[in-house]
Amino acid sequence: MRPSPQPINEDLYTKSIEVSKRVRWDVDKDVIRGRSFHLSEKFLPDGLTGIDHFNFFTDEEKRFVSQIQGRTYANMFGFVERFITAKVLDCTRDHWLGSQIALESLVRFSDEELKHQMLFRQIESMMAEGMPAGYAFQPDPDAVSEAVLKNSTWAVMGLILEIELFTQEHYKKSIEPDNNLSELFKDIFLFHWKEETSHAMVDELEWERENNKISDEERDQAVDELIGIVANVDGILQDQSTADVDYFLKVSNNSFTEDEIRSLKTGFLKAYRWQYIFSGVEHPRYQTMLTKITTAAQRQRLGEALAALKSSIY
Ligand SMILES: [Fe+2]
Ligand SMILES: [Fe+2]
Repeated sequence: MRPSPQPINEDLYTKSIEVSKRVRWDVDKDVIRGRSFHLSEKFLPDGLTGIDHFNFFTDEEKRFVSQIQGRTYANMFGFVERFITAKVLDCTRDHWLGSQIALESLVRFSDEELKHQMLFRQIESMMAEGMPAGYAFQPDPDAVSEAVLKNSTWAVMGLILEIELFTQEHYKKSIEPDNNLSELFKDIFLFHWKEETSHAMVDELEWERENNKISDEERDQAVDELIGIVANVDGILQDQSTADVDYFLKVSNNSFTEDEIRSLKTGFLKAYRWQYIFSGVEHPRYQTMLTKITTAAQRQRLGEALAALKSSIY
């Protein structure tokens, strides 16, 4: 049986609107400011690339790895924001005739993600101008989003919260403290982070609201859908990490041993799994949310699927 709808507490939606108004920025005027990327600079910080594992690299090669992974990082955001925007707009339907505060919060959220997509498309063309030819970002945003959005709202919100939590975590723990990054790259993720600070909070509200709408059977099925989505995300990470290593090898002047190439492939996949899966699902707020809305048996199912991924590489 479906539970009856719960009244909406508008306090946190109100807070998200305040944040959105206070931090609002413009792509060219505030973020890019006529600057460009320089290949003498590092893009993605060591804390995310896992570069310490590649002890056979020269400094120049380490910097190139950070640039490749940084380019993929920017593209990944532009890509996931396609289905995030679509799902958030989908969630507004429940508020059209209800809380206009919740509606404004979600409309601002999707407006920000549309702007972020534009920013990341611009970043990709700026990086393409400066970096050697041959890089390819594999996933097609519309095709993957279409597949993701076939799942229940509960499962999709589970993925979206995971992404928005790691977005903030990466900036605060790895990007902000690294003083050796491209200033432009760092600023992009500073401004992105500013508008992202309230998104995870809204995701929690919307995921919980959806959770209260569905039956136990629907939730149980949604947990399996979320497990399926994580497996699909991992497939994307495998493809992209392979493409990125191939690009690195094609451009690099050095010849590497088979062992080094194997370790490079493993290192990239391990870094991407950390960046896009584990740093989100292991986040304390994600764990708190799961504990709140799932049973111990459902969490065990999810935990086993994640452990299988981890053991396949670590
Ligand atoms: Fe964003
Ligand atoms: Fe976001």
